[in-house]
Amino acid sequence: MAFELKNTVPWGRSLTEYKSMFNLTGPDLNKKIISFGDGPASFNYEMTQQNKTVTSLDPIYQFSKDELNRQIVSARDTVMKQMIENQNNFVWTSIKDLEELEHIRMRAMSDFIADFELGKNQHRYVHHELPETTSFKAQVFDLGLSSHFLILYSKLGIEFHIKSMAEMLRICKEIRIFPLLNLNAKKSEVLDGILEEFGNGYSCSIESVSYEFQKGGNKMLRIQNK
Ligand SMILES: C[S@@+](CC[C@H](N)C(=O)[O-])C[C@H]1O[C@@H](n2cnc3c(N)ncnc32)[C@H](O)[C@@H]1O
Repeated sequence: MAFELKNTVPWGRSLTEYKSMFNLTGPDLNKKIISFGDGPASFNYEMTQQNKTVTSLDPIYQFSKDELNRQIVSARDTVMKQMIENQNNFVWTSIKDLEELEHIRMRAMSDFIADFELGKNQHRYVHHELPETTSFKAQVFDLGLSSHFLILYSKLGIEFHIKSMAEMLRICKEIRIFPLLNLNAKKSEVLDGILEEFGNGYSCSIESVSYEFQKGGNKMLRIQNK
């Protein structure tokens, strides 16, 4: 059975995972970073603990802490059920089994929940929905990230992707997107259209990363303003 989620779900990863998904080096971590569709990841919380600068954007940041908690619990049941049915699409080496997966994800999301209200007051968590224009000035961020949203949710269509990434490239010197597969662990249907759109005016490269959870999902797209 194919991996299907009606909408995107709040499901969060950790700083360790972000480092390996995006080949983040020491100097990268000191950059001014913005992360789109960052959801309930603990990336922002863990980076802030280390005095690094991350702004996270996501539509779910419009909700209260209690409502987010409720959505996370409900997403856990949906996602874990789908994971059980689709175990063969995943590589169980750095994450050993379903139990460890659930533990790692719930740990990241509870760190996010604990940090949410403070982070929102500090403007580290900002309510925003792609492909809307953000309120940020051109090129104010060094690095823009999208983990497990753009390209993965290929059903949002090529126009959605191009408009979203154009806005990311307006406010960021460089963007990185992971993974390059769709939800069924096949090459994303929008990847070629994206490379065609941004291939001329920008420097685009597909790079191998050390992270692989979806089988074959060990590549990220880097696009830099020239
Ligand atoms: C699978 S989660 C990934 C969360 C996080 N980036 C990570 O990797 O742990 C997908 C996220 O995309 C967000 N999302 C859904 N629609 C969006 C939109 N139009 N613009 C930005 N983010 C969106 C969801 O709210 C959700 O938090």
